Amino acid sequence: MNTDFKHLTLDNEVEEVVLLSSGLEDTEKIGNAIGRSVTKEDVILLSGNLGAGKTELVRSIVIGAGNKDFVRSPTFVFINEYKGKINITHCDFYRILDVGNLQETGVEEYYDNSLVLMEWPERITNNLPKDNLIIKIFFNESENERIIKFFTSGNKSKQLFERIIINYETNNS
Ligand SMILES: Nc1ncnc2c1ncn2[C@@H]1O[C@H](COP(=O)(O)OP(=O)(O)OP(=O)(O)O)[C@@H](O)[C@H]1O
Ligand SMILES: [Mg+2]
Repeated sequence: MNTDFKHLTLDNEVEEVVLLSSGLEDTEKIGNAIGRSVTKEDVILLSGNLGAGKTELVRSIVIGAGNKDFVRSPTFVFINEYKGKINITHCDFYRILDVGNLQETGVEEYYDNSLVLMEWPERITNNLPKDNLIIKIFFNESENERIIKFFTSGNKSKQLFERIIINYETNNS
């Protein structure tokens, strides 16, 4: 595993909450609460090393948003679109290693028109929108534990975060 991984850090990010996921089911609950909170204007950046759980979180966000499309990791294309009540754009930029490749993706077109769920935002730091919810996933001591930290970077992501917390607490009380 690549050990020199560094999570994305934005100048204007504000840490909002730290959640412990003790296993995949916990991550799914978090993802479902996110899915019930999103709008087509939101952008969520998922930062974490290989195998951290970004795609698992995407899968449960898509289900929580009421979208029945099958979710797979866009391994051979950079962007997958899932049509539904809210159109969702799932990006995985792991394999983008130069700017030429990035321009081919046209990701900017999706920012205002669909919920964007982005894995490996570290690869395109100069082309990220200004106001994002950033979710950073960390490995923990036991194999199935993850630390999931939420950061906002503006009013829109702050409002999204507040909806998520209400939906998460409603589901867990
Ligand atoms: N608490 C947990 N939350 C999420 N995934 C977990 C957890 N515990 C174990 N896992 C396992 O970790 C793996 C996460 O894989 P996933 O494909 O989501 O990672 P990823 O971050 O998308 O990696 P990549 O960078 O390769 O795309 C899955 O096999 C999942 O079952
Ligand atoms: Mg993935």
